[in-house]
Amino acid sequence: MLNCLLDNTETGLDPLYLLTPELLETWLMQTSAATADIVRINLFSGKLGEVLKLPISNGRKLTIAGIGKNPVAADIAVLPAKLGHNKYFLAFAPQALDRDKLALAWLKGCYRFENLQNKKTEFAKLQIIGADREQVLLRAGAVTYARDLINTPANILGTEALEQAIVSLGQEFGAKVSSVIGEDLLKQNYPLIHAVGRAADQQPRLVHLVWGNDKNPAISLVGKGVIFDTGGLNIKTGNYMKLMKKDMGGAANALATAKMIMQAKLPVFLNVFIPIVDNAISANAYRPSDVLPSRMGASIEIDNTDAEGRLILADALTRAIEDQPDLMIDFATLTGAARVALGPELAPYYTKSDSWAQKLEAEAKSENDPVWRMPLWDGYDALLDSDIADICHTASSPMAGSVTAALFLQRFVADTPWIHFDIYGWSSKSRPGHPVGGDAQGPFAVFAMLQKEYAS
Ligand code: BES
Ligand code: MN
Ligand code: ZN
Repeated sequence: MLNCLLDNTETGLDPLYLLTPELLETWLMQTSAATADIVRINLFSGKLGEVLKLPISNGRKLTIAGIGKNPVAADIAVLPAKLGHNKYFLAFAPQALDRDKLALAWLKGCYRFENLQNKKTEFAKLQIIGADREQVLLRAGAVTYARDLINTPANILGTEALEQAIVSLGQEFGAKVSSVIGEDLLKQNYPLIHAVGRAADQQPRLVHLVWGNDKNPAISLVGKGVIFDTGGLNIKTGNYMKLMKKDMGGAANALATAKMIMQAKLPVFLNVFIPIVDNAISANAYRPSDVLPSRMGASIEIDNTDAEGRLILADALTRAIEDQPDLMIDFATLTGAARVALGPELAPYYTKSDSWAQKLEAEAKSENDPVWRMPLWDGYDALLDSDIADICHTASSPMAGSVTAALFLQRFVADTPWIHFDIYGWSSKSRPGHPVGGDAQGPFAVFAMLQKEYAS
C-alpha cells in the first residue's frame, strides 16, 4: 500500500488530471478538437470514478479522472483501483484540494485486506509533488496497521498473536515490551483481566510497551484487546457475535497511535497498556452475579458477562495511573450504545478536560478523523451502585449505555487527565478510502494533538 505513493525522483510517469464536470468543460475548450471528440464520444463527464486514457505525443498517455461535483480530497481514494497497474504523476487537480490530503486519500484507496486470499487488487501508483511524503506515509502506515489487526480473524490473531504483534512493534522502534500472562495476572494483582480471560484456550495477558525518555512528558495509552467477544455466559446471538473479531479495535487504535508517536520520535515518555483476553465460554467462565476483586481494591459485582471490556480496562487503567502520566488516553470498542448514538463514522470521546477536548477537536478537523464529545454526566454515576459490592459494572438502567460505561471507567482514573474513546472501529458500508472492514478511529486526531503539543 505505502509503495503506491511514488517519491519525487521517479521519472517517465504518465500525467493524470483530476477533473470536476465544470473543470472538464473549461479544459475541453482549450484542448484540441480531436481530443475533445474522444472525450465526448466516450461520454466522459467528470463524475466521480470515471477514467479515460487519451493519446498524447511521444507515445505517452494523458489520463483524466472524474472527481465529481464539489469534491473533497478523500474522494480520490476511489481511483487507485480503477487506474490499472500504471504509474502517474499528478499533473492537475482543483486548487482547493490539499496535496497532503490527496496523497493520504490515495494511499487509503490502495488498502484492501487480501492477506488471506489469492486475489490481489492491482493499484496504480502516483507521484504528488508538493505533498509532505513523510507525514503522509506515517499516517497511511498507521491506517494499514490498525486495519490489518482488526480484520485478522481471532483464529489467527489470538491473545498470543496479538501480544507478538506488540513485541514486533516494540522491536521496530526500540521499545521495551513485557507481559503478565495467565496465573501471573492473579499473583501481580490483575484479578479482572484474569477473570474475564480465564475460560479461553489462550491465556489472558496484560502487555506493556515502554518507549522514550522518562524525563519527557508522560503519555499513557490503553486499548481494549478482546480478540473475540462471544459475550461470555451472557452469550451474544449470531448476528451480534459475527463482528466480534473487531473487539480488539481499541488495542489496534492505541497501537496505531503509539506507532506514529514512535516513528515521528515525539519527545514524550510513552507507556502503552493492552489487556488482551478472549471472552470465551467454559466451565470456569466468570458468571453474572459473581463478585470479583479489582486491582484498585473495590469489589465489583458482575451483572452481565458481555460487559467484559470495562472490566479488563479497569485493571489496566489502575495500572496506568500508577505511573502518574500527564495524559492518559484509552480506546475501546466498549458499547453498542455508542454506535446507536453516533453511528459508525464518528468517534465518541469523553473527557473532563475542556482544554484537551479543544485541542483534540481542532486537530480532528484538519486530520479528517472526526470525533464527538460525550458527557461524563455525574447524575448517572449512582446507577453503578451495587447492593452487595462496592461497584456494579453495568448500570441499573439500559439508557445512556455508552455514558454509564465511561462513568464506570472514570471510577478507576482518579485525577489523571484522561480521554476515553468508545469507538466502533469498523466501516459497515464502503465509502471512498474506507472499504468494509476494520478502520482506524481517533488515532490521527490524537497523534496530531500530541505532535502540536509536544513536538520541538
Ligand atoms: N464489544 C461489545 C460492544 C460492541 C458491540 C461494540 C457491538 C460495537 C458493536 C461490548 O463488549 C458489549 O458487549 N457491550 C454490551 C454492554 C452491555 C452488556 C451493558 C453492549 O453494548 O450491549
Ligand atoms: Mn461484550
Ligand atoms: Zn466487547
